[in-house]
Amino acid sequence: MAHHHSHQHHAGPPEPDEAGLAAVLDLDAEVLHAHLAELTAWLKDLTGDAPVRRILDLGSGTGTGTFALLSRFADAEVVAVDQSPYLLRRLLGQAHERGLAQRVRTAEADLDAGWPDLDPADLVWAAASLHHLADPGRALREAYAALRPGGLLAVVELDGFPRFLPDDPVPGLEERLRAELSQRHAEQVPHLGSDWGPRLTGAGFTIEAERVFGIELRHPLPEPTGRYAQAVLDRMRGAVGDRLGADDRAALDVLIDSDGPEGLLRRTDLVVRAERSVWVARRPVHPAG
Ligand SMILES: C[S@@+](CC[C@H](N)C(=O)[O-])C[C@H]1O[C@@H](n2cnc3c(N)ncnc32)[C@H](O)[C@@H]1O
Repeated sequence: MAHHHSHQHHAGPPEPDEAGLAAVLDLDAEVLHAHLAELTAWLKDLTGDAPVRRILDLGSGTGTGTFALLSRFADAEVVAVDQSPYLLRRLLGQAHERGLAQRVRTAEADLDAGWPDLDPADLVWAAASLHHLADPGRALREAYAALRPGGLLAVVELDGFPRFLPDDPVPGLEERLRAELSQRHAEQVPHLGSDWGPRLTGAGFTIEAERVFGIELRHPLPEPTGRYAQAVLDRMRGAVGDRLGADDRAALDVLIDSDGPEGLLRRTDLVVRAERSVWVARRPVHPAG
C-alpha cells in the first residue's frame, strides 16, 4: 500500500534515535559529497543513452541519494521510499528548500512488507538500506518487478562507519570500536557485508558493473567533518560503548566532548577513510530461460 503524502501530514516527533540518524545521514551527504558525485557520474555513464525519467530510492533516509540523483539526472523525478515518516518528512522539507519539490514524491512503506504500487522505474537506487531488510532477496525481486526491462538497479553498501582518527592518542581505539560493532552487526544485521552479486543474479538481474570506492579525505576537509566525526563516534559509543574497556570509554568521551580542547571539533588532524561497494545490475530486456 502506498501512502503518498506531503510533508505537512506527519507532525509527530521523531523516534529518539531517528533525529540522531537523520543528523548523521545529512552530515554524511555533505562530507562525502565529492564521492557521491563521482558515483552518480559513473552510474549515468552506465545508463548510456537510455532516458532516465523515473527513479526509485529505496530506504531513502533523509535523501542523500535522492538529491544526488536529481542533480545528476536532470530529467528525472525520484520516488523516495522509506518506512520512517519522520525521515521522509525531512526529505520533503529539503526538497522544498532546494526548489525540487516538483520532482520528488515520497512513499511510506516497509520494504519487508507491502511494496508501494509504483509505475515502472528506469533506475532503482538502494544505498545502505538492503542490509536492514529481513528478506533482501524478496526485496530484490520486487525491485526487479519495479524496473522497466533494460532498467538499472544500483546497490550501494558501506564497509561500516568511516574512520577519522590518526593512530594517536589512543592507538587502535577506532579499530576496537569497529570490531565490537561488527560483532553486534553479525547478530543484529546479518546481511551487512554480503556479496550482493549472487543475490542479484538470483533475482534475475545481470551484473553490469561492480566497483569498490576507496575514500580517503585529508586536509583541507569539508567544513562539517568534525561534527560528522563527533556524530559517528557518538553513535558508535551508544551502540557498543559498554563493551569497551574503561580507558577506551574515557578516551572516547574526551573526543566526543564538544567543549574539550582535545575534542573532535577542534582537531586538525582528522582524516576520513571509508569504503563503499557498488553493484550495478540490469533487468534484462530478454530474460534468459
Ligand atoms: C543507513 S540509512 C540509509 C539512508 C540513505 N539511503 C542514505 O544512503 O543515506 C537506512 C534507511 O533504510 C530505512 N529502512 C530500514 N529498514 C527499512 C524497511 N524495512 N523498509 C523501508 N525502509 C527501511 C531506514 O529508515 C533508513 O532511512
